[in-house]
Amino acid sequence: MSTVPQTPTKRLTVRDLARKGGTPQVWLTAYSAPTARALDAHVDAILVGDSMGMTFYGMESTLAVTLDMMVAHGGAVVRASRRACVVVDLPFATYQSSPAEAFKSAARIMAETGCAAVKLEGGVEMAETIAFLVTRGIPVVGHVGLTPQSVNTFGGFRTQGRSSAEAKKVMDDAKAVAKAGAFAIVIEKTLEPLSRAITKAVPVPTIGIGASPACDGQVLVLDDLTGLFDLFLPKFVKRYAELGREMNKAVAAYAADVRAGKFPTMEHCFTADGAAKGKKSKTTK
Ligand code: KIV
Repeated sequence: MSTVPQTPTKRLTVRDLARKGGTPQVWLTAYSAPTARALDAHVDAILVGDSMGMTFYGMESTLAVTLDMMVAHGGAVVRASRRACVVVDLPFATYQSSPAEAFKSAARIMAETGCAAVKLEGGVEMAETIAFLVTRGIPVVGHVGLTPQSVNTFGGFRTQGRSSAEAKKVMDDAKAVAKAGAFAIVIEKTLEPLSRAITKAVPVPTIGIGASPACDGQVLVLDDLTGLFDLFLPKFVKRYAELGREMNKAVAAYAADVRAGKFPTMEHCFTADGAAKGKKSKTTK
C-alpha cells in the first residue's frame, strides 16, 4: 500500500495555515517546478524562500536576491503545485524603505506568480508595513529571530535570544508582527525555551526552523534535508537523503561510460526506420 497521501485538487489557503495548534504544519522550501511537484502532496505550504540565493545561486548571503528571481522561481512553483499553499519571500531592499514600496513589491509577486501570500523579515519595525499590506489584501507571514537579510547587523548567522535583552526583543517582535495581522510567523534559529514561550504568547501559528518542537509547524530548506546543499550542515537540519552524493555518483558513472565508449549504445540512437534499437522510451521516437 502506498504511503503517499492522496492529492486533493483543492489548494490549501492561508485560512488553513492560520490555524493554531493541532497536528504540526509541514512547510518546506522549493524553488523549481520538479521540486514543487515532489513536495506538493506531502506538505501544507511551500515557501519559495530567498535562501535560494545561497543554496541555488551559490551566493554568500540572501542579500543579492532580486524581485525578478523571486517572480521567476515563485511562478515555477505555483505552476507545478496543486495542493500546497505557496508563500513567496520578499527579497532584501524591496520592502524595508516604506509600506508603499512593500505593497508594490508584494503586489507584483502575487500578481505574477499566483502565490497566496508573501513572507517578510523583521519585527516591531515592520509592523506598520505588515498592517498596510494585510489591510490591502496581501496575506503576510512574519519572520523573527535570526532574520538572514540582517546578517551584517547580527555579525553572522547567530542564534538569537541568548541574552535577556535579545530574548525580550524577539518576543516583542513576534507579538508586534502578530498584532499587525501576519497570519503566521516563522521563528528562525532562536533558543528553544524562547521559541516555546513565543508560541504560547502569540495567537497565530509559529513555524519553527531551529526553534522548538512546540512550534505550530516546522519548515526546512529542501536542499538541506535532501543533501543537495552539502557545503555545511546547520545543527537544526535533519538529513533525510544524500542526493548531492547520489548525483555525484551518477555523474561519475556517466563520465566513465562516455570515456570508455560505453555510452551511448545503439539503444540510445535513432535509426532510419524510426525505432530506437533495444529498449523503447515513451518520450522519444
Ligand atoms: O528563505 C528561506 O528559505 C526561509 C526559511 C529558512 C524559513 O526564510
